Amino acid sequence: MGFRDKFKNADTAFTFNDVILLPGWTTLEPNEATVKTRLTNEVELNVPFLSSPMDTVTEADMAIAQARNGALGVLHRNCSTDEEVDMARQVKRAEAVIIRDVITVTPDTTVGELLKLMDEHHIKGFPVVGRGDKLVGIATWRDVRLAEPTLRVRDVMTKKVITGGEDINLEEAKQILHKHKIEKLPIVDADRHVKGLITMKDITLKGDFPEAIRDEEGRLICAAAVSPFDLERAKALDKYVDILVTDVAHFHNKNCFEATKKIIKEVRAEVIVGNIGTYQAAEDCITKLDGIAGLRVGIGSGSICSTSIVTRAGAPTLYATSNIADAVKAYKSKVSVIADGGLRNPGDIAVALSVGASCAMMGNVFAGCSESPGRLVAMEGRYYKEYYGMGSAKARKKRFVQDRYSQPSKAINEGVEGWVPYRGPVADIIREYVGGLKAAMGYIGAQNIPQMGEKSRLALVTERGYQEIAPHDVMMPGPNKIL
Ligand code: XMP
Repeated sequence: MGFRDKFKNADTAFTFNDVILLPGWTTLEPNEATVKTRLTNEVELNVPFLSSPMDTVTEADMAIAQARNGALGVLHRNCSTDEEVDMARQVKRAEAVIIRDVITVTPDTTVGELLKLMDEHHIKGFPVVGRGDKLVGIATWRDVRLAEPTLRVRDVMTKKVITGGEDINLEEAKQILHKHKIEKLPIVDADRHVKGLITMKDITLKGDFPEAIRDEEGRLICAAAVSPFDLERAKALDKYVDILVTDVAHFHNKNCFEATKKIIKEVRAEVIVGNIGTYQAAEDCITKLDGIAGLRVGIGSGSICSTSIVTRAGAPTLYATSNIADAVKAYKSKVSVIADGGLRNPGDIAVALSVGASCAMMGNVFAGCSESPGRLVAMEGRYYKEYYGMGSAKARKKRFVQDRYSQPSKAINEGVEGWVPYRGPVADIIREYVGGLKAAMGYIGAQNIPQMGEKSRLALVTERGYQEIAPHDVMMPGPNKIL
């Protein structure tokens, strides 16, 4: 084969801007569409969005907000193992029907130590256990807020503790909390050993966030990124997370495969792998990696990516998603396909779902939210939040990211640094994007996400045509928002 033959059967790597969804016959109003999607064997999302594992996007606050609104935040790994584990712990402790890993103190604990624990764990009350680990009291914020730090818990705690038995149900617990006007109900066995804790806050939160995704203990679902080569971190996170997501720029790599096999074997959490960009990569993941739950798909389309320009290698997210979804179908595999990078609006998400994605991962869209960790700054009368690529110089300076776009093996940055407009709370953005997605589903006539793949048809848009389908020929004063 000559070199020029390489062009003969070359694929066209279509991107979101190249296509449009064709409206189809519909019997359905947009608000009748449902956007639930299966992410793994165990986890169904009520909203098909994930926030990227990036240190300007997803830390505990973002992950909690995503899960409460039916989507999922993937905690970033550009930090020490302890810091990432701490973020995961915060997500898992944010709410629960019954808290199982109850933090207790002893009567000898000082008030100063107790206040420190409250601060560290973001909780306001601890059961007090004495000899034989038996419950002897409860120390809450109300007991200690005006107490001298040198006093002991035994001097300030409430000794008459109202408790519940192990067979209590949520309704009974609610009534007891209400009747006694208390916030926390320790659950004890016949020997007064603490077996759990039910809090008024958790009961209220359950009602406040009906779309939240929770595990069987009522805790928010938690996902975290790992390097395939960091087995120790994967094991440390395993206690708290439901899903681990490998986080490398090019997962279709023998060393990544071998290292991931070890992780899959050692952890209880489900494992999503990526990023990959081609049919062959999906084929290899499906046939060589037993037990994976999902594929994270797209290389070089992210808004802060410079990979495709710097290296001229990449697999735009739309192209990658359609190829990989075809492989998943051909192998009758159940793994989910997560379109990752370059999705800017509900239309892009609809297009990704129409070529077989189960859900969409976004960095840029969520980086501007109040819950993202990036810095908020005012520039020329508007607010922005910092957003940079995990392969950018800034991220690479933090040593923990080195194995994703690693300095030793890569001497060049593959990401840029910038700012995105401040967008307000995640809940509003998710609501707006779900609204847009349902509108697209209404045009297609798709009642649910699998039907997006079955019913939708795509047409190609020329470069000149693209100018026509976006708003044009009007003066748009001020910040005109088209998402
Ligand atoms: P968006 O378009 O939502 O994309 O901002 C987020 C996704 O981009 C990937 N990512 C990078 N890709 N260089 C890259 O080539 C980088 O520095 C970089 N940082 C993040 C990642 O998959 C993320 O979810």
